[in-house]
Amino acid sequence: MTARFKSNSFNFEAMDTSKYILVTGGAGFIGSHTVVELIENGYIPVIVDDFRNSEESSVKGIEKITGTSISVRNTDVCDFSKLEKVFREFNFTGIIHFAAYKAVGESVQKPLNYYQNNLVGLLNVLQLATKYKVKNLVFSSSCTVYGEPKNTKVVTEESAIQPANSPYGNTKQIGEEIINDLVASGADIKILNLRYFNPVGAHSSALIGELPIGKPNNLIPAVTQTAIGKLEKITIFGNDYDTIDGTCVRDYIHVVDVANAHVSGIKWLEQQENSLVENINIGTGKGTSVLEIIHTFEEVSGEKLNWEFGPRREGDVVEIFADVSKSKRILNWEAKKTVKESVKDAWNWEKKELKH
Ligand code: UFG
Repeated sequence: MTARFKSNSFNFEAMDTSKYILVTGGAGFIGSHTVVELIENGYIPVIVDDFRNSEESSVKGIEKITGTSISVRNTDVCDFSKLEKVFREFNFTGIIHFAAYKAVGESVQKPLNYYQNNLVGLLNVLQLATKYKVKNLVFSSSCTVYGEPKNTKVVTEESAIQPANSPYGNTKQIGEEIINDLVASGADIKILNLRYFNPVGAHSSALIGELPIGKPNNLIPAVTQTAIGKLEKITIFGNDYDTIDGTCVRDYIHVVDVANAHVSGIKWLEQQENSLVENINIGTGKGTSVLEIIHTFEEVSGEKLNWEFGPRREGDVVEIFADVSKSKRILNWEAKKTVKESVKDAWNWEKKELKH
């Protein structure tokens, strides 16, 4: 199989074409950053994305950052036969499966869409991975599987899985169960469930970043969109929680760190001989409150943010952050970037976006 690249800045002749990695949802927020890190680590990512929640401009951004031309297949992962065509076309050594819906609130309104898209997509990827003997797979899971942690703020991979508080969260729990059952059946496959905490920020080039559709639900895009004037003001949901300053605490992790965790994950899977499944937290191990984020933003950007306190948001976890010892021990990976860098990169991305 030949590499489909055209570039004058990179020696593709020397590339090992046994390094094809399927990246479903590779044009999305975490996907696009992961594609960049894969290329920088000698892999050849192939993006499968139908652009329903992403934009082709992110592929252009990846190509600009890496100086490569990317193979992209405009394919819905729920379309089995179209997805199978991609498996026939490339001899994948690994798969990173991002493609899924991810908005908690929307999942409550449209549960069937979430179960349909997130579970059928995963089932198709697993069916084809086993059929085409692709043995290394990373699944995008979430710290949402822990729900509201009991009597602790820091969660390890052994912490209890609480009943999901949204259909979105349930698709991640069911996804992990499907994977556990597949591995328990003796399938010859090695799988990592990476449980992300709060991925934020953007690539430092400001060529790729988060592209929220409609009014953003997540904190950092809401902050940057308020500062740039797309939103009038930002509401902090609740200031009477039992936390350092009354606002909720999360483990915000730079998206490039999250992307690198996938590269470490694929490398580690390649070294393992026997089938396995491991759940691994992907966070920084540090908690940051909503107010701390606001203050960090004001400090980093020099902008005064128009914010107000409002009522609590239903379903919000009060305080949660990752125990990161397992990712260090197993993957030899840890987050390197600070919350300040995350906020700065998210702000640079927002400012750049406005110029498009
Ligand atoms: N927040 C505000 N105002 C806003 C937006 C958010 O105060 O306009 C607060 C929230 O109340 C919360 C914190 O900022 O306390 C973080 O909220 P996000 O929506 O950015 O992130 P969540 O932790 O709620 O959600 C994330 C992922 C979900 C995942 C969940 C698991 O976005 O996909 O973690 O806990 F399910």
